[in-house]
Amino acid sequence: MPFLIAGNWKMHGLGGQLGEIQAIAQCVRTSAGPNDVLICVPATLISRAVDASTGGVAIGGEDCAPDAAGAFTGDVSAEMLKDAGASTVIVGHSERRRNHRETDAIVAAKAAAAARAGLGAIICIGETQAQRDAGTALRICAAQLEASLPADRRLLAGSAIAYEPLWAIGTGRTPNADEVTEIHRHIRQRLRLLMGKDEHQVRILYGGSITPDDAGTILRLPEVGGVLVGGASLKAADFNGIIRAAAAISLEQVRSETSDSATVTARRRKVP
Ligand code: PGA
Repeated sequence: MPFLIAGNWKMHGLGGQLGEIQAIAQCVRTSAGPNDVLICVPATLISRAVDASTGGVAIGGEDCAPDAAGAFTGDVSAEMLKDAGASTVIVGHSERRRNHRETDAIVAAKAAAAARAGLGAIICIGETQAQRDAGTALRICAAQLEASLPADRRLLAGSAIAYEPLWAIGTGRTPNADEVTEIHRHIRQRLRLLMGKDEHQVRILYGGSITPDDAGTILRLPEVGGVLVGGASLKAADFNGIIRAAAAISLEQVRSETSDSATVTARRRKVP
């Protein structure tokens, strides 16, 4: 499956920054290879970002309400994001969980709302520093995952899980390769149990202080299906570096698969 390289602009972005979207779209057209690229922006910017991208890069929202419409002043529904041109929405980001007291059940309802509106969801989970220090990171992530998925697992088609350790977000610190691999493998195992044969449709992204310098290392790790990038998605120069790093890995993978199958074919020919 191609990588998903997703940006999260958080509460950044005025009309004056749309040039960054144009520059990212240009890079996607020439250099993204087979990979999917998405920029999630504030709701106020979605339709203008869609225009600026001229189809080069998919645009997403950063949160949605569980309901489609109603007396919820200030909230934005998944249907509204879709109507504005979004393809995807982030749900359960740790900043929403912390600042807006969003529970796993609310996150699951938002993920179901995304599917109802025809949007993909990026469902975020991750442990705090204290939970990691206490040795409970695997357990916490598995519990959050299970409780944050919509009960109807079929709604997960086209969705992704983002593992974002809270202590790595915006801090410049990242988990080491073993730590990322351990959690991503565990999430994959849990998805297999929760979703059965459809689990392979769900990519597992890593997020937290990703930069163009370390994106390649992270993307090469097992079960890492992409990245969710905050700070480094705000500047096209940085984000495009991540897009190119992902494309280079995809190209290597295609080359090694092609040479593997060429070897198999050559071996078969030798069999009398
Ligand atoms: P960061 O944010 O890349 O700035 O650490 C990641 C996120 O919060 O999604």
